[in-house]
Amino acid sequence: MRNWKSDIQNQKYIFALIMSKSTDEVFKNVIAHAKEYGFVFPSSEIYDGLSAVYDYGQNGAELKNNIKAYWWKAMVQMNDNIVGIDSAIFMHPKIWKASGHVDGFSDPMIDNKDSKKRYRADQLIENQIQELTDQYKTLQLDALILESDIQNAEVIRQTTIDMSQEQKLLIDAVEFDNLEKKILELLKSEELLKEKKKQYDLKLQFLKEETDKIQSDFDFAMKGDDLNRLKRIIIENKIADPVGGTRNWTDVRQFNLMFSTQMGAVADDADVVYLRPETAQGIFVNYLNVQKSGRMKIPFGIAQIGKAFRNEVIARQFIIRMREFEQMEMQFFVRPGTQADWFSKWKQTRLDWHLALGTDLNKYRFHEHVKLAHYADAAFDIEFDFPFGFKEVEGIHSRTDFDLSQHQKFSGKKLQYFDPELGEDGKPYGNYIPYVIETSIGLDRMFLLTMINAYEEEDLSTEEKQDSRIVLRLHPCLAPVKAAIFPLTKKDGLPEKARELMDHLKTDFNLQYEEKDAIGKRYRRQDAIGTPFCITVDHQTLEDNTVTIRYRDTMQQERVAADDLGKIIGDMVSWKNLLK
Ligand code: GAP
Repeated sequence: MRNWKSDIQNQKYIFALIMSKSTDEVFKNVIAHAKEYGFVFPSSEIYDGLSAVYDYGQNGAELKNNIKAYWWKAMVQMNDNIVGIDSAIFMHPKIWKASGHVDGFSDPMIDNKDSKKRYRADQLIENQIQELTDQYKTLQLDALILESDIQNAEVIRQTTIDMSQEQKLLIDAVEFDNLEKKILELLKSEELLKEKKKQYDLKLQFLKEETDKIQSDFDFAMKGDDLNRLKRIIIENKIADPVGGTRNWTDVRQFNLMFSTQMGAVADDADVVYLRPETAQGIFVNYLNVQKSGRMKIPFGIAQIGKAFRNEVIARQFIIRMREFEQMEMQFFVRPGTQADWFSKWKQTRLDWHLALGTDLNKYRFHEHVKLAHYADAAFDIEFDFPFGFKEVEGIHSRTDFDLSQHQKFSGKKLQYFDPELGEDGKPYGNYIPYVIETSIGLDRMFLLTMINAYEEEDLSTEEKQDSRIVLRLHPCLAPVKAAIFPLTKKDGLPEKARELMDHLKTDFNLQYEEKDAIGKRYRRQDAIGTPFCITVDHQTLEDNTVTIRYRDTMQQERVAADDLGKIIGDMVSWKNLLK
């Protein structure tokens, strides 16, 4: 009989192996590609790098600028009630007291005394919960297979019994005896299977109870910021150092994620300033300046793109969790009571912004925050399916009037808005502190998402020869280089003609000139950085001023008039394609 159980298990194992290998490999390949083609370099690499800090290379800086431009245009240029600012990174230290960052922007840390490694206590516990959940799922599948084995065994035994009854008169006593024995054997092995299943069920129940207990203990500890309880969970559940393997732990302490430095020549506690951990506070403290100088009427938004800094203890997954990163944030100020409507509008608008780039909707999902920050009355993350799982790219937060109220309290300056519009009762809404809907996207995470989504190792093999290429299928608006111009050869006046074309087009587009290597090699280099067009100047160009244009995605080539290039490229890279 076919052993379908081991078939399933083999398939499961092979599938898991293939999946883990391929997703892991894709991610590694993207990281290697990003370095090889000038997108992202480890910071200070010649000094062995600086942990969780990265530099953007020549193509990375262009791609990053294009993502910023897309966001800025979609948020500021396309909305006449949203304006953009650029506030300083250094701000008055009281701002961080008012915002709650001095007292509350921290992670619970624990050190292992043997390995001297530092971990986030909450992540150690979450990993343990995940491990138990994985064990449960595997055992549950095994139990299902066992259940099916038992049903099969019952069918076989019953068939054998039926057969023995039917053949009773036809077979001799010895044969009948053998059949009876066989039935007994079948019954025994069936009972063994049932016994095993009972043990599985007990183990499943134990795992479930254990997981639920840790989870509820953990939720309780996190809600109450109970650091002792976190430590107790780690000790009671024998959670070991993932690197050193020992359980020699320190107490759990809060570790503030803000970087601080000294302002002025004399080091003094009063001069401590922080590197901002979010750009949002620069918007809040400028709310009144912008509202008054721009004569803004509610509802209106203030947008900003800028650096933020967090002393992440566990920095991982390339540019997903960095210590210096960039945010694109927008605070939308609304009348109290209207925040729920604006929240759902911005949630959808921001998802549409992502989808306009042509990304598959299935790659995205919303994740609702169950545990809300003290200032929020609703919060969703937009998550993307990275090779290592769904991860947050953007947050949409309904921040109530918390921040403005706090700044009003700490600064002593009135941050109220006078709303002259008439309410249902025919009276003006009057003075109030506006509520805020925030959209906050990490530029670096968006950058990684874009690279991963665009990266393709394409097999171009034919019956005659093996061939492949790496192509970045970036949206043309985001491509670092819009077109590459090649003279077919380095002689006969072709480089001069190509340069002339380049000079004509470069005021409108970022172009690259290449004359080294065969045309095929030059195409591959441009595919690898996502250039949508390659334009070749050949001898015919000198006669009739036509060129060949080769399209990145289809690799098709056509002959066009050189005078039409501006329009062809312009149409393809026009922001109109994204900002409909
Ligand atoms: N003002 C709200 C705020 O800062 P957040 O969820 O802490 O909210 C917003 O951060 C976005 O910033 C995240 O969705 C993520 O894309 C990005 N981000 C946060 N921490 C980051 C880090 N250490 N490295 C890279 N990006 C980060």
